[in-house]
Amino acid sequence: MSSRNGSDFIVVANRLPVDLERLPDGSQRWKHSPGGLVSALEPFLRNHKGAWVGWPGVPDAEVDDFEEDGLRLHPVTLTGAEVRDYYEGFSNGTLWPLYHDVVAPPVFDRTWWDAYVKVNHRFAEATAQAAAPNATVWIQDYQLQLVPAILREARPDLRIGFFLHIPFPPTELYMQLPWRAEIVRGLLGADLVGFHRPGGAQNFLWLARRLLGLEPTRGAVGVRTRPGVIQVGDRAVRVGAFPISIDSAGLDTLARKRETVARAQQIRADLGNPKKIILGVDRLDYTKGIDLRLNALRELLTEGRVDPSEVAMIQLATPSRERVEHYQRMRDEIELTVSRINGEFARVGHPVVHYLHQSVDRAELAAFFSAADVMLVTPLRDGMNLVCKEYVACRHDLGGALVLSEFAGAAAELTSSFLVNPHDLDGVKNAMHAALTIDPAEGRRRMRALRRQVLTHDVDRWARSFLEALDPEHHH
Ligand code: ADP
Ligand code: F6P
Repeated sequence: MSSRNGSDFIVVANRLPVDLERLPDGSQRWKHSPGGLVSALEPFLRNHKGAWVGWPGVPDAEVDDFEEDGLRLHPVTLTGAEVRDYYEGFSNGTLWPLYHDVVAPPVFDRTWWDAYVKVNHRFAEATAQAAAPNATVWIQDYQLQLVPAILREARPDLRIGFFLHIPFPPTELYMQLPWRAEIVRGLLGADLVGFHRPGGAQNFLWLARRLLGLEPTRGAVGVRTRPGVIQVGDRAVRVGAFPISIDSAGLDTLARKRETVARAQQIRADLGNPKKIILGVDRLDYTKGIDLRLNALRELLTEGRVDPSEVAMIQLATPSRERVEHYQRMRDEIELTVSRINGEFARVGHPVVHYLHQSVDRAELAAFFSAADVMLVTPLRDGMNLVCKEYVACRHDLGGALVLSEFAGAAAELTSSFLVNPHDLDGVKNAMHAALTIDPAEGRRRMRALRRQVLTHDVDRWARSFLEALDPEHHH
């Protein structure tokens, strides 16, 4: 819904759902943006005819507001220096590693923080302009944690929700952040602050007490129930847990299509019809544990527990944050390990690991999921992880086995997977071996249980439960 006075429902995220791509010949086109946030929110928002405030994904893009499939897009411009300091710097060099359990050391740089503050102001201004009186605004993720308070100041009439798509860290780690109080204050500008897991909500409540001297409620936060409450002046801020999900029915339908089934068979044939296909699908990120699953495979091959003539592994890795140093290093390590494995175990025409540093479209991805006998999702830490849910949604045939890290938010829901501690290499190897050799009846039993969870908890339910908690009188 939108009128001349602005939109009634607005999503604010660092990225628009589409990225501007500049081609070598000077022309430009829009393509689908990477990552779980866009995968989850885009289908929901298209059905609700809202507006989206975000960055077009390249520096210095001056683009007017435009409409796409009934969705009103409001581009926010970032300069090259802001992309470096706000996006690559504070968002992905400071907050990303800090919030993912410091699996890489976070960098604390004051010029990055200044850029983060400035860009958060710009997003808040763009939103204030786009919002109709009394509109509902839903701010997304770690790049925009100051927007709720800035927007509240400018537009006290708005109903403001905030959702964090990545983990919220243990309080001891969060306390390292020099700007820890400013960020908690920023988030408290919202009426509802949402996390994937109750633990994140609980950590945030503790910090509001410790850092700002507020008096949050003390009861345990539930999943979609019993939010905590913090009284901030005359406002009550609620803090809850809302595990995100996927368009389960949409993927289920796509996977059942004749074209998808045929394409999955083609993939298998292209690989030389191996007995087992192993698959990994990730943004190329050091939190995803791509290196450790490759190392696990390498040891299994070396020990003769896996026969290289019987398996093929495919690793799809979407290019991501390529100018951030840690990402470059991780990419080099992964590519080295892939070629080591192939150097030792491939035959001409039959590599063991097929590595694609590319992103593929949804139909192709559904075919890969359908073809994979074993799906490896092994992050060291992940807020939720949608890939594992997508795999499950594609397995109407009840085939396939999922190996899933305990450190992904999804582990709390997908308890019939092979759960592993990604720091325990022997445990990962044993789980991979068990998944490769599973008795088909046992595999079907597990997949049936996983599908029950994923098909009844889709992204629509996630969005509705959040928006109902944000605005109980309104029906979404
Ligand atoms: P994150 O948000 O950290 O990237 P998620 O697992 O939550 O991780 O979401 C990743 C999304 O990106 C999923 O929807 C997944 O299907 C998609 N994706 C990841 N890798 C690829 C790839 N190589 N090609 C196409 N889509 C991909
Ligand atoms: O929640 C994960 C997330 O960081 C999103 O905020 C983001 O849009 C996505 O992953 C992809 O990362 P990026 O926008 O940095 O390419």
